[in-house]
Amino acid sequence: MSTAFLNGAFLPLAEARVPAMDRGFLFGDGAYEVVPVYSRRPFRLAEHLARLRHTLAGIRLANPHDDAEWSRLIGEIVARNDGEDQSVYLQITRGADMKRRNHAFPSGVAPTVFMMSEPLLTPPPEQRENGIACVSAPDIRWLRCDLKTVSLLANCLLRQQAIDAGCAETILFRDGFMTEGAASNIFAVKGGVLLAPPKDNLVLPGITYDVVLELAAAHGLPAEVRPVAEAEARGADELWMTSSTKEVLPIVRLDGRPVGDGRPGPVGARMHAWYQDFKQTVMRGNG
Ligand code: PDD
Repeated sequence: MSTAFLNGAFLPLAEARVPAMDRGFLFGDGAYEVVPVYSRRPFRLAEHLARLRHTLAGIRLANPHDDAEWSRLIGEIVARNDGEDQSVYLQITRGADMKRRNHAFPSGVAPTVFMMSEPLLTPPPEQRENGIACVSAPDIRWLRCDLKTVSLLANCLLRQQAIDAGCAETILFRDGFMTEGAASNIFAVKGGVLLAPPKDNLVLPGITYDVVLELAAAHGLPAEVRPVAEAEARGADELWMTSSTKEVLPIVRLDGRPVGDGRPGPVGARMHAWYQDFKQTVMRGNG
């Protein structure tokens, strides 16, 4: 049984309980992070903690721990769980006001701090080799998609649209431009140039997104960070989906039509190889 953390104590996950009055439960009022752990090392922890600070500031919730304490707690949950590679989930909500349900922030209520560790499940080789199929949908989310909040109902509905169609992800378009996936960032490749939507208020600033752009720069792959029009995305030679858990996955079909020639493209294959190399050296510390 995996070990979780709740409000200062480590305990079996099945025993972790929060009151029904918790604002995470009532309002989706909270922030979260998902930190991949390779060879028991949290990946890009400083960047994840910086994004967490950005989210907490954006929802006006005080950070319950400084970075040193987060780092210690995350190290401890990794140590207390099985597996060299893990996915650490952490969540902070605005706590439980036991007196009443009220949209306005309660005063004098302690936040709820929860962490758990799950096995890090990277995509099966079959998905990487053959690519994945996606559907598209209008981006129905709010205008603060840069915040990693637990209010994920729109993302859940959008991801389920893909699942219902036998696909892996839903690519979102807003006002004629590609934003991201329901739970991933999306890159396009056209004429050998990598195209990435900018990190504005309409997308989650992905940690993997940054790694992909850094690897492109390091290996001399031309990249443009700029709005990507829907027509450009649909006419791309390659589309990729990226996230901490999916890494870099080629998208070979969108809404039933082939992306490029309908096979995983060469630029994506190179990026995947760079990413794996980076993981072995920098992330696992074998460099
Ligand atoms: N989601 N965009 C959205 C909407 C996401 O939910 C995610 C990740 C990303 C990619 O971010 P990163 O590279 O930092 O994982 C982009 C996580 C994995 C989740 O919600 O489980």
